[in-house]
Amino acid sequence: MNSPHIIVALDFPAADLALSLAMQLDPRLCRVKVGKELFTAAGPQLVEHLMGKGFEVFLDLKFHDIPNTVAGACKAAASLGVWMVNVHALGGRKMLSAAREALPMGTTKLIAVTLLTSMGRDDLSDIGLSGEPEMVVQRLASLSSSCGLDGVVCSALETPHLRQMMGKDFCLVTPGIRPLDASVDDQQRVTTPSQAIANGADYLVIGRPITQATDPLAMLQRLHAEITPA
Ligand code: C5P
Repeated sequence: MNSPHIIVALDFPAADLALSLAMQLDPRLCRVKVGKELFTAAGPQLVEHLMGKGFEVFLDLKFHDIPNTVAGACKAAASLGVWMVNVHALGGRKMLSAAREALPMGTTKLIAVTLLTSMGRDDLSDIGLSGEPEMVVQRLASLSSSCGLDGVVCSALETPHLRQMMGKDFCLVTPGIRPLDASVDDQQRVTTPSQAIANGADYLVIGRPITQATDPLAMLQRLHAEITPA
């Protein structure tokens, strides 16, 4: 394995909390994810600080706006030097293509959120989307791929089908990961790290099982070992 498959979600309200947790981790074993809460509170300075400590950063801001605005946001993210950014596939073909043009292949990885996993069938019909959520996810993953995106965020349950459909080079990033003995917290459907990798996931987003562990580094080492062939 030449690059860490675990992305630790730094879901904290302030820079000092995120940094003190990150300092307990090992950038050879994980990347980190900075989402809307932490980025709104701590901004680019925190991202630079994390990169200065050797971490590659997934900036999880889920851009969704008119194409020109999303392209500008992607460029700004790339100029920070982050490893990966994401946009909402529901922004449509023009927006996805503008994001891709702003981030040439081989630079910052660009992935899409298909449907938020918090959305069920009723939520879809509220916004005029018909069909089963799984079908909508597949359609949005195909759209993302046809616009040249590197991959999508998906639940581990969707991974086997998407892997089969999208081929081996499409990047699948999977949250909702729990070691067998961990609390599921507010996640509905969870998968163990090894099961998620067996299902075809490339990267596993793991938050509380590591960030709330008594010994975050020991937990990271354990989960890394679980998915690393001997
Ligand atoms: O603490 P936990 O492992 O549940 O954190 C999972 C992370 O993945 C959080 O940052 C959450 O926002 C994110 N995420 C998710 N489900 C999605 C998309 C992102 O849990 N469908």
